[in-house]
Amino acid sequence: MSEPQTYLDHAATTVMHPAALEAMVAEMQRVQGNPTGAHRIARDARRRLDDAREIIGDLTGSDPGGVIFTGGGTEADNLAITGLVGPGAPAEGKLAVCPATEHHAVLHPVQAHGGRVVGVNPDGTVDLDALAQALDAEVAVVSVMVANNESGVIQPLEPVRALMDERAPDAVLHTDAVQGAVWLDLAEAAAPADLLALSAHKFGGPMGVGALIVKHDTKLAPLLLGGGQERERRAGTQNVPGAVAMAAALAAYARDRASENARLAAERDRLADGLLAAVPNTFESGDRAKKVPGSCHLCFDGIESEALLFLLEREGIYASAASSCSSGAQEPSHVLAAMGVSRERAQGSLRLSLGRATTSTDIDRALAIIPPAVAHLREAGS
Ligand SMILES: Cc1ncc(COP(=O)(O)O)c(C=O)c1O
Repeated sequence: MSEPQTYLDHAATTVMHPAALEAMVAEMQRVQGNPTGAHRIARDARRRLDDAREIIGDLTGSDPGGVIFTGGGTEADNLAITGLVGPGAPAEGKLAVCPATEHHAVLHPVQAHGGRVVGVNPDGTVDLDALAQALDAEVAVVSVMVANNESGVIQPLEPVRALMDERAPDAVLHTDAVQGAVWLDLAEAAAPADLLALSAHKFGGPMGVGALIVKHDTKLAPLLLGGGQERERRAGTQNVPGAVAMAAALAAYARDRASENARLAAERDRLADGLLAAVPNTFESGDRAKKVPGSCHLCFDGIESEALLFLLEREGIYASAASSCSSGAQEPSHVLAAMGVSRERAQGSLRLSLGRATTSTDIDRALAIIPPAVAHLREAGS
């Protein structure tokens, strides 16, 4: 019999949705056709790609023509920032602004182009006073994520937009909606944004495909030069099977979002409350009421995350310390640091992220295995 496996790292990547898998396999089994071609098979591929564009546009509050398919969330974020303020871009020389808790796919391009990084409140939401200070006529783009990949904190975008209207009315609002797509109706939650980044593998689609949604015809310089695909905004033959599967996954997630959000919020609460009760000196990051339903983020004082993850993996529990991109590196998370969590406390952080495949048995196992693992490490360390 195989060992039980409890996967609680859905914010890193999640299981493919059956509807996405089916759509992708069907696409790959046919003579695919290159969507830029002229003959019937190529035109059919273009039509299926455009159908996917329409579904994704509909679900994100955009016209289909605003959907630029990319190779994932990182590329979509880079296109939004570098495509606006990078070399040769329409607003070259102007500035990008973002909070310090953004994913590195936003933070690094903002910093690379000399942008401004603003602080956040202890609950993880952007410090609106600091944002106001950073906004002026020099700013071309503000980037604020819908939901954070580590803390799970949702950032309401209306107040950000209101500040921009007052202080930087010509700037566009980009939102990294990569972690929001599972949990929120983006046509609503990201309505104030002009640009929006998606990554399919976070919501039941395949890895290596995403989109930048351009809602109001914002002009961007392409990152890749080559063919004129995606209306000259992203060169390279499109990943038709990936795009079709991404659309199927987004539509499938939208259909049962309300019931799944309620189920997973209850499981997350059971997990977080159970661990807080069973393990003394445990600290929950941020304000749970402001988080996406699947996010449980805790710090256990007096232990090192790496050692805990090792013990948990031996028991078949898979989680992460910070975001998937920085776990493995010993540097404590930039997100927790920005939220004012001490370096010492951040060393013992654990991100448990739930997804559609999570069952109550997974939560029972986590509740049975994590408290003794933490106790063991504390005893060993004392
Ligand atoms: C908030 C956020 N933005 C961007 C990305 C990058 O997406 P991708 O893995 O598709 O490059 C991730 C993935 O971890 C993420 O969580």
